[in-house]
Amino acid sequence: MAGKAQEDITSVLHENRLFKPNSDFSKQAHIKSRTAYNQLYKKAEKDPEAFWADLAKKELTWFKPWTEVLDWKPPFAKWFVGGKINVSSNCLDRHLEGPRKNKAAIIWEGEPGDTRTLTYQDLHREVCQFANVLKNKGVKKGDRVALYMPMIPELAIAMLACARIGATHSIVFGGFSAAALRDRINDAGAKLVVTADGGNRKGGVLTLKDKVDEALKKTESVETMIVVKRTNSDVKMKKGRDYWWHEEMKGASAVCKAAQLDSEHPLFILYTSGTTGKPKGIVHTTGGYLLGATVSSKWIFDLKENDTYWCTADIGWVTGHTYIIYGILSNGATTVMYEGVPTYPEPDRLWDIVEKYRVNIFYTAPTAIRALSRLGNEWPKKHDLSSLRLLGSVGEPINPEAWMWYHKVIGGGNCPIVDTWWQTETGSIMITPLPGAIATKPGSATLPFPGIEAEVVNKKGKKVPADVGGYLIIKRPWPSMLRTVWKNPKRFKETYWSDFPGVYFSGDGARRDKDGYIWIMGRVDDVMNVSGHRLGTMEVESALVSHPTVAESAVVGAPDEIKGTAICAFVTLNTGHKPNEALKKKLKAHVTQEIGAIARPDQIRFTNHLPKTRSGKIMRRLLRDIAAGREAMGDTSTLEDYTVLAKLRQDED
Ligand code: WT7
Repeated sequence: MAGKAQEDITSVLHENRLFKPNSDFSKQAHIKSRTAYNQLYKKAEKDPEAFWADLAKKELTWFKPWTEVLDWKPPFAKWFVGGKINVSSNCLDRHLEGPRKNKAAIIWEGEPGDTRTLTYQDLHREVCQFANVLKNKGVKKGDRVALYMPMIPELAIAMLACARIGATHSIVFGGFSAAALRDRINDAGAKLVVTADGGNRKGGVLTLKDKVDEALKKTESVETMIVVKRTNSDVKMKKGRDYWWHEEMKGASAVCKAAQLDSEHPLFILYTSGTTGKPKGIVHTTGGYLLGATVSSKWIFDLKENDTYWCTADIGWVTGHTYIIYGILSNGATTVMYEGVPTYPEPDRLWDIVEKYRVNIFYTAPTAIRALSRLGNEWPKKHDLSSLRLLGSVGEPINPEAWMWYHKVIGGGNCPIVDTWWQTETGSIMITPLPGAIATKPGSATLPFPGIEAEVVNKKGKKVPADVGGYLIIKRPWPSMLRTVWKNPKRFKETYWSDFPGVYFSGDGARRDKDGYIWIMGRVDDVMNVSGHRLGTMEVESALVSHPTVAESAVVGAPDEIKGTAICAFVTLNTGHKPNEALKKKLKAHVTQEIGAIARPDQIRFTNHLPKTRSGKIMRRLLRDIAAGREAMGDTSTLEDYTVLAKLRQDED
């Protein structure tokens, strides 16, 4: 990693602005000062089990207490062993006993502008009803349910209904293709799928049911499909398999006791890309996950009774799981949910929603910030954003320019920014400022959350000195950590626990500065971060070589001003096929069909030879340089010259 990391280090080393939390914010915050943070951190470090157990008692409602806080047989952890709990009753039932009963749980807005508000009581009722629908269709505790849905309240209802009866949900982002959905359904062995006739996107309709129909042609496990009517699109319902959501809900009872589940019962599987062609099913369980989600939401977003909170992520990603639904509802807060894209019908849609609902806490991704800032300040300026008191960022390193724009133009210079580092695997935020306590530096995720022992180490696992790049690891198990890779404990072990035995390796490079602040430098493996979403280069390569014209391909990331990383594919064709623009288009469409639009290569470059080492390894570093235009090459239309270059560099690898 040294090369890339070193470059990134020098690029941010000059960043030394410091933003102290303003005292009005700190006074009212859950964690009020750096001293308070230090005390919490030290307390957790000294006795992590006692620290988490105290919080689990205080913040969550259990049917039955645990007998053992942590059972750690590396790399397998069990938290709150013997405890019985239910995520849906923590997110709903416990709020019905007091004044939160009629408080908005979800404020939803569709892309066309239709809206719906569900109070905690409303949401509870619909969740119970849908839990009964699931039961009526034969779904039992431990069964897997796939959710392939637009951002509509029914998605939240379906998640919580699964959690209520102990069915494990596997949400597949609506932007994934039928083929990607099929693979995920098959890997998880889902029994039932919930989808919609369509979703609204960029003024058009995202067809979802059609894709499920396509996927189900090659799946064995699915018995039932439930379809929400959202866009009134013309869909075919297969008798005996497909049912309308609204018809099933009509007759369903609103009484459904929450199942008393084991703390380690699997709550969800969420697939994420790795370094092989096949995504991994990350498994999260119940008690520990909910604790991480609840405490992090409360302290990092400083959630208060009157706050209106909005995270713009899609629930198909882990950010939506933890910070639109579970962590926020568990705290009894109001969560805003929006169906569509940020620029529809105009580039001020997000700011319009902030003004309309008087949003106080706003959580989004650097790619969105960069894209919206480029559209001009007049869009946010058209709106009263004075309700905002806290801003958040997630998904990739936020460049200082984007940070400053967010701070000044969106936050009016008054809002702390929490740059939150975490992963699908970590379940909840690991490295972040606590907004009333930690002074921020643009571009740094700052310090580890209390109870999280993050460190930057060299190849040998030794802590590196200040301002030296290294690998980001987590030294101790934490409650919301992934428990395994679905049906593949071997891969779990190899991917996360083998590079540095006994500690968790994140796959990210980082450095710590002299104040102990952590600066994330991005992936050090063959994983790209495209618009804040993880994508394996191998996954895109597999998709490309599955096209009959392609003999071989190598995919690398190239810097992109908006997306962070653009996908650049080097492709060698089978004999008899000629490189041309039409084929480029075809290959791009092919990848979209195999994986989804997020994986569509930005660039296709044809070459007769991919540069390889003597042992046949593709020289990715060289390709990355070429893709980024870092090599001063005469002719960039072919790779002929690069093979020469490659030969010259063979000895390096
Ligand atoms: C990867 C995880 C869970 C967040 C959504 C993405 C990168 C995430 C930050 C940040 C720098 C970040 C890392 C990480 N990342 N947040 N604040 N600063 N990098 O979840 O798809 O599991 O990807 O996103 O590279 O490993 P994910």
